Amino acid sequence: MSASSGSNGARQQVFVLVGGTGDLAMRMLWPSLAMLDQEGFLADNLRIISVAREDCGTEVCVDRIGNAVTSRFGQWTTPEALSRFRKRIVHVALDAAHDDWGSKLKAELGDVEHLDIVFFLSVSPSLFKPICEHIERAGLNKAPNRVIIEKPIGRDLATSKVINDSVAHAFAEDRTFRIDHYLGKETVQNLIALRFGNMVFEPLWNSQSIDHIQITIAETVGVADRLGYYDEYGAIRDMLQNHLLQLLCLLAMEPPSALTSDALRDEKVKVLRSLKAITAENVLTNTARGQYGPGFADGHPVAGYEAEKGSPSNTETFVAIKAEIANWRWAGTPIYMRTGKCLPSRTTEIVIQFKPLPHSIFGPEAQANRLLIRLQPEEDISLTLMNKAPGLTSEGVHLQPLDLSLSLIKAFDDSKDGKPPRRRIAYERLILDALNGNNAQFVRRDEVEAAWTWVDGIIKAWHEKDMKPQKYPAGTFGPVSAFSLIERDNGRMWND
Ligand code: BG6
Repeated sequence: MSASSGSNGARQQVFVLVGGTGDLAMRMLWPSLAMLDQEGFLADNLRIISVAREDCGTEVCVDRIGNAVTSRFGQWTTPEALSRFRKRIVHVALDAAHDDWGSKLKAELGDVEHLDIVFFLSVSPSLFKPICEHIERAGLNKAPNRVIIEKPIGRDLATSKVINDSVAHAFAEDRTFRIDHYLGKETVQNLIALRFGNMVFEPLWNSQSIDHIQITIAETVGVADRLGYYDEYGAIRDMLQNHLLQLLCLLAMEPPSALTSDALRDEKVKVLRSLKAITAENVLTNTARGQYGPGFADGHPVAGYEAEKGSPSNTETFVAIKAEIANWRWAGTPIYMRTGKCLPSRTTEIVIQFKPLPHSIFGPEAQANRLLIRLQPEEDISLTLMNKAPGLTSEGVHLQPLDLSLSLIKAFDDSKDGKPPRRRIAYERLILDALNGNNAQFVRRDEVEAAWTWVDGIIKAWHEKDMKPQKYPAGTFGPVSAFSLIERDNGRMWND
């Protein structure tokens, strides 16, 4: 598809950003749209409507958007590009609590029969239902119009079904685009390229050759101003149910027959459904829950989660899980996943630890190979191989490990005019795909539900065993139980 075409070329495209003056919109969505425009990805006649309760008027709204774009991408934008972008935008003040929401929007949209409308609901999930009802009542939900929503899609399977049902009433599944922003990251998309664009990995990508896998999403930030939301969710619902499990799916799925959305998502959902249940019998050894206490993170003193909240809490800010996929490819290969706030570094990485040689002619010097895929902060893929240590020794050949390294920031350095390379926001790819009607990198309803089914089982087991989060000092890699989780398995260690 060409850069400036939409999926419905004959119709005029309209992007309706509901929650247009909100925090996510200003930090991520407007800068993404502005960059898509600047790079020629938006159809010339595409209009953007910002919708919010706030009656700030188009001029003020557009000024704020301009500031948001320049504060994020000032180096890479020009006044001309920004002024062209600003002209696309109109702000409409609408309150979802009022019945005229849909009719007022319709009046602003004009000839809706000839439009191709993409709604982005950047609002609290409690508003998905009333807003979808307004859209439906105004007849704005008909094909090809589609809707983008984002997590949290529920706190568990039951509440996710309520949200999905209310959206499904207005929009068919193939026109419902559920964002997991990790899927829009360049580096995460590269996992698909790495696995299915190379022959070398596939024959080894199984439990015969792989000893174990580690997936870590470590953050240095705490919960700060998101406490109200976070205290209800915790690390397992906020990060593991979605981002970590999506990474696991891309790593563990069977090769899809094509790069089409259903072929891909069929394979991902099979992984989720094959996850072995964690129950009260094994939850104490297969999971670790932590909560940051006082300490130092990111160079700043941290008072601790409960002190920040001002009252006791059983919400975990760290979770580690030992998972196993019960199928022919993966049975017997443990997958250790962890994520947490106020950890010592901001890193997202995957470690594929291969098995040792069946027989080493070099004695214990021969270490097992390890593939490290670092996704954040910089992308780096490195494979540790054994080499002959250079030089002569009287005892013969010695080995030493060496990294075969692919630093993608250097390999794809597109810096121009002395400017550093621009780091894309994950939403750029996702908004572009939604405009083009391509939902391959969005999460299908059955994936959301399979992920919740597994996570609900863990939370239930935590309750049954009264397993509370263990404190860890801010600035350390989680509670002691997270280390024993992996070390009790033949002394394996996290890649810290
Ligand atoms: C969000 C979570 O989905 O992802 C946040 O709600 C988390 O708690 C964020 O900080 C991490 O995203 P990224 O892209 O910064 O790794």
